[in-house]
Amino acid sequence: MSSNGVTHDSVWLDDPERWREPTPALDGDAEADVVVVGAGITGLTTALLAARDGNRVVVLEARRVGDGTTGYTTGKVTAQHSLVYAHLVEWAGHDRARQYADASRAGMDLVASLVDELEIDCSLTRADALVYTTSDESRTIRAMEDEAVAARRLALPASLVSESDLPFAITAGVLFTDQLHLHPRRYLDGLADAVVAAGGVIHEDTRVTDVSEERGQVVVTTENGQVRATHAVLATLLPIGLIGGYFARTRPNLSYGLAVRLRTEAPAAMTISVDEPTHSTRPWPDGGPNGLIVVGGGHEVGADVDTEARYAQLEEWARATFDVAEVSHRWSAHDYTTPDRVPYVGRPPLHQNLYVATGFGKWGLANGTAAGIALSNLIAGHDTPWLDIFDAGRIEGVRSVPTLVEGNVKVAAELVTGELRREAPRCSHMGCRLRWNDAEETWDCRCHGSRFGSDGPVLAGPAVKPIDVGEAG
Ligand SMILES: Cc1cc2nc3c(=O)[nH]c(=O)nc-3n(C[C@H](O)[C@H](O)[C@H](O)COP(=O)(O)OP(=O)(O)OC[C@H]3O[C@@H](n4cnc5c(N)ncnc54)[C@H](O)[C@@H]3O)c2cc1C
Ligand code: FES
Repeated sequence: MSSNGVTHDSVWLDDPERWREPTPALDGDAEADVVVVGAGITGLTTALLAARDGNRVVVLEARRVGDGTTGYTTGKVTAQHSLVYAHLVEWAGHDRARQYADASRAGMDLVASLVDELEIDCSLTRADALVYTTSDESRTIRAMEDEAVAARRLALPASLVSESDLPFAITAGVLFTDQLHLHPRRYLDGLADAVVAAGGVIHEDTRVTDVSEERGQVVVTTENGQVRATHAVLATLLPIGLIGGYFARTRPNLSYGLAVRLRTEAPAAMTISVDEPTHSTRPWPDGGPNGLIVVGGGHEVGADVDTEARYAQLEEWARATFDVAEVSHRWSAHDYTTPDRVPYVGRPPLHQNLYVATGFGKWGLANGTAAGIALSNLIAGHDTPWLDIFDAGRIEGVRSVPTLVEGNVKVAAELVTGELRREAPRCSHMGCRLRWNDAEETWDCRCHGSRFGSDGPVLAGPAVKPIDVGEAG
């Protein structure tokens, strides 16, 4: 879709000549050792490692490889996740914080080594990552200092800085050297080819509608047949349906992205502000030396905001900050945050052969890869030294409760006020009223982030069934 010369699609997906041939949808029943649901970075990494361990692997993807959030990301593969390490040390202690750092590093290392080994043409580039503030508030500057100290103690390549290559002054920042950025969809294409080369089978256009465990087997049901397997991995951004109750332990947050060309060279570092609204940038090498990706303007999915205005505000910031010659692409996407800002990875409570990975908080490229390592280790019966921090069965601490309560109060409010917006259809997940998103022309659910096309199909779960757009009440 294009208007005013701006393509309304992820710059990573709008690259038709480079798409892999689609793989056929599942047609009938099948068997596998491991079935992976979802072909984003988490699912494909898990599938590749499990296939290399000698498992018969089947990947089921509702849409196309990369059509989930991974294909709409900023493409930073980094252990710098805004400000997180001082928080983790305080929250969980040094040893657990060290596990998080080790996991992110392991994810980054695996991405770099797979790109090298498989010769994936995905513009992988080493760059510094900077988190910064322009505020004079001593509290914010102290947070930067604390982050630099905490990250260094965790053996991360961090330093406190007061200058950057951004075209405005910063008051403080934390710089991580030797991080990565890449073209996420081409990276996924490379992973998908490698899964097939390792003996795995990928079925696109195959939406999973149910997963159950029966007598030591997992039965994965789709619209076109069932797959029976020993293990099933739900790498669907948020586990589908009601599995594990993760829909009630996470919040869906959406951000907007722009690909722009500047009249000057783009800053070489990847940057992100801690000041609100958050602005994140990274070079866009495929757009030429002046190419830049700008992401920001976040809010919860389905929030009562003017989504067109959010694009306009982001473009305004980009034009006021940089010498923008052209806006090439615009898009939006969402990810899930957890109350303690740590993903859930592993077996959900009461499940033996089912695994999840969710709640990456918009930092799932390194950590989704780390999740792939951990899940394939769990399937193989091997330990992962840093998995405890991601415990999928953890009960959030007392300090998380207010955040959880706040999220669930929003859901309850949505169910009530939704009654007043009777013209909108209901979500097929748990019945919340949907909101029309003008900019994307989608029906969005505030409760847990499901999104539907204008004529009803599921675009993103946890819902698995289409909505009835003719419904009014
Ligand atoms: C705007 C934005 C920018 C971001 N930038 C960065 C960044 O720079 N660096 C970073 O580390 N992280 C970033 N993130 C976060 C990161 O993109 C995600 O955490 C990560 O991509 C999650 O990968 P995934 O494989 O778990 O999920 P996804 O990529 O969403 O993959 C899930 C797949 O499951 C499929 N699926 C869903 N339901 C079903 C079903 N019922 N049956 C079959 N298939 C199904 C989907 O179609 C999808 O392909 C960003 C997030 C956003 C929103
Ligand atoms: S996503 Fe849960 S009710 Fe809509």
